[in-house]
Amino acid sequence: MFWTWVALALVLAAGIARLVAWSRRFILGSGGPSPFDKDARRPPEALVTEREVRKGVLKQAFSASHVPNQLDAVVIGSGIGGLATAALLAKVGKKVLVLEQHTKAGGCCHTFGQDGLEFDTGIHYVGQLKKGSYSRFLLDQITEGQLDWAPLDSPFDILVLDGPNGRREFPMYSGEKAFVQGLKEKFPDEEAAIDKYMKMVKEVTKRTSHMIMLKIVPLPLVKLLDKLGVLTFFSPFLRASTQSLEEVLNQLPASPDLKAVLSYIYPTYGVTPKNASFSMHAILVNHYKNGAYYPRGGSSEIAFHIIPVIQRAGGAVLTRAKVESVLLDSAGRACGVSVKKGHDLVNVFAPIVISSAGIFNTYERLLPERARCLSGIQSQLGMVRHGSSALCIFVCLQGSKSDLGLEANNYFVYFDTDMDKAMERYLSLPRDKAVAHIPYFFITSPSAKDPTWEDRFPDRSTLIMMLPARYEWFEEWRDEPQGKRGRDYEALKDSFVEASLPFLMKLHPQLEGKVTSISAGSPQSNRFFLAAPRGELYGTDHDLSRLQPRVMATMRPQTPIPNLYLTGQDVLTCGFFGALHGAMLCTGTILQRNMYQDLVRLQAQGLAARPKKLN
Ligand SMILES: Cc1cc2nc3c(=O)[nH]c(=O)nc-3n(C[C@H](O)[C@H](O)[C@H](O)COP(=O)(O)OP(=O)(O)OC[C@H]3O[C@@H](n4cnc5c(N)ncnc54)[C@H](O)[C@@H]3O)c2cc1C
Ligand SMILES: *[C@@H]1O[C@H](CO)[C@@H](O)[C@H](O)[C@H]1NC(C)=O
Repeated sequence: MFWTWVALALVLAAGIARLVAWSRRFILGSGGPSPFDKDARRPPEALVTEREVRKGVLKQAFSASHVPNQLDAVVIGSGIGGLATAALLAKVGKKVLVLEQHTKAGGCCHTFGQDGLEFDTGIHYVGQLKKGSYSRFLLDQITEGQLDWAPLDSPFDILVLDGPNGRREFPMYSGEKAFVQGLKEKFPDEEAAIDKYMKMVKEVTKRTSHMIMLKIVPLPLVKLLDKLGVLTFFSPFLRASTQSLEEVLNQLPASPDLKAVLSYIYPTYGVTPKNASFSMHAILVNHYKNGAYYPRGGSSEIAFHIIPVIQRAGGAVLTRAKVESVLLDSAGRACGVSVKKGHDLVNVFAPIVISSAGIFNTYERLLPERARCLSGIQSQLGMVRHGSSALCIFVCLQGSKSDLGLEANNYFVYFDTDMDKAMERYLSLPRDKAVAHIPYFFITSPSAKDPTWEDRFPDRSTLIMMLPARYEWFEEWRDEPQGKRGRDYEALKDSFVEASLPFLMKLHPQLEGKVTSISAGSPQSNRFFLAAPRGELYGTDHDLSRLQPRVMATMRPQTPIPNLYLTGQDVLTCGFFGALHGAMLCTGTILQRNMYQDLVRLQAQGLAARPKKLN
């Protein structure tokens, strides 16, 4: 009995000591330098449009001789997650190498050419970028204030319900007051439900930091608090994480039309109301409600301005560098990566390996067999599923923004107020039947959102349509080379394009006769360009199970493999900012710092140093 008590006391003391050490580090920082020691912003320079200069930054091909020596870290993948992690480490003097499998850096932020025009891959609009805001300040630190954002119009989103009861439009205006007012004008009898919903969105998103805390606090402690039911009891965010969007809308209550309108934004995280967690949904509503932005000069500007920050510390971002495996030392710790170069493999060694390639790629493909079998790895893999995929249609148009009457906003077109039913039916059909039942379109004109477009591409415009698609419909071409998948593959893509165009022309009849070329990207294209294993848009699925507190706490930058870290969209959430916060968490873990606090301090210093207004 006595010894049991002694053992218990020892375990408790060890636990308390760890907690004290953790809280000191968390509150005071590790004592090392912070990436936010000084304000990195400089006055913005002119937009660089020379192709060769841009290529020199975005398309530096991998070769063994380009690998800097004595690396501090190597990062797999050059999306915002990988680039931001590398840049934050570079800001404390670390020499970091970023390796990208594609020919161009940027991941979802890369752009590509078609018919002489430029298209985005995965950036249509981003919220919370008002000058002076915390997230804008964060991004400005990583891009040294060189990346500018142009606001979209208000309304930034327009929902079109084109159902059996006719065609109705619901505009989403920028600014909370205008946003709510816009909804109430359409639903004068349901003002109370709208207020209640907005209040819930606010209450939940005020506590988004709880999701971040879950990934910082020692895991055994979170698990204990979760078992005791403390987390969901005290945190409105975590409580809403376990509730579906459908459940919340039913409780309001709301009419079927209002339910549909309040759900319209679900494609931005890819899960229909029944399976979506209310907190994930609330994050997105809150993200955009004060207006949306688009990168001035197109989304390749993002990587273009982050890469120099990495280079200045001696690091590099190299493309055409497919990582084949993570190298482990004899003790099972990550010590580098093996890169495919032609038919050869080049080993690159570094004391820290960071992966933004997603949990499935990293664990199932890059880890050697003996590590893949570890119970920690298997149990994490068991907690997540592959997210949903889509088909993108890229349309080139003759005529300028004003000629064609295009606007800086997005359309979401739905045909049924029951979004779950429409999606379930569509996904359950064989591909040749499914084309007749596409449940929604996302339609947007990237050229209309970029104020520099007309200088870069006079008298031309672009438009993108996105619609959901099953990976399985395109799976049979998985081993065929990109661009050479053959007639049947092209015919299948064409069938979706043909089914979609009438809806585009119904929305924008003025575009009839203005289309100069069209192409489509399937889930296989996402697999090729983004290395998304099943063409998923947003990494692991953002369904209710991923948002369970226990799962959120487990998915953190540390992995069961020492010296191997995860960053990007699988760490926190998808989206440009989701992946960027994944990078904040990852860097904070590596540097053992509470970087959120560092950033608050830096921003406050800047405000205090500003000359006071004269009265
Ligand atoms: C079509 C689409 C539209 C979107 N629209 C928006 C939007 O409007 N607003 C918004 O905020 N978010 C949007 N998103 C989501 C957002 O773009 C992503 O969540 C985010 O950019 C992901 O960043 P990441 O760094 O985690 O991953 P990624 O950008 O996917 O980067 C991962 C990188 O790793 C590379 N890689 C993988 N495996 C290897 C390997 N073995 N070796 C070398 N490199 C490898 C990949 O090639 C890729 O470049 C959209 C996404 C898509 C696909
Ligand atoms: C919702 O989740 C269930 C269970 O995972 C799945 O079978 C169903 O297809 C999902 N619904 C939609 C519309 O994706």
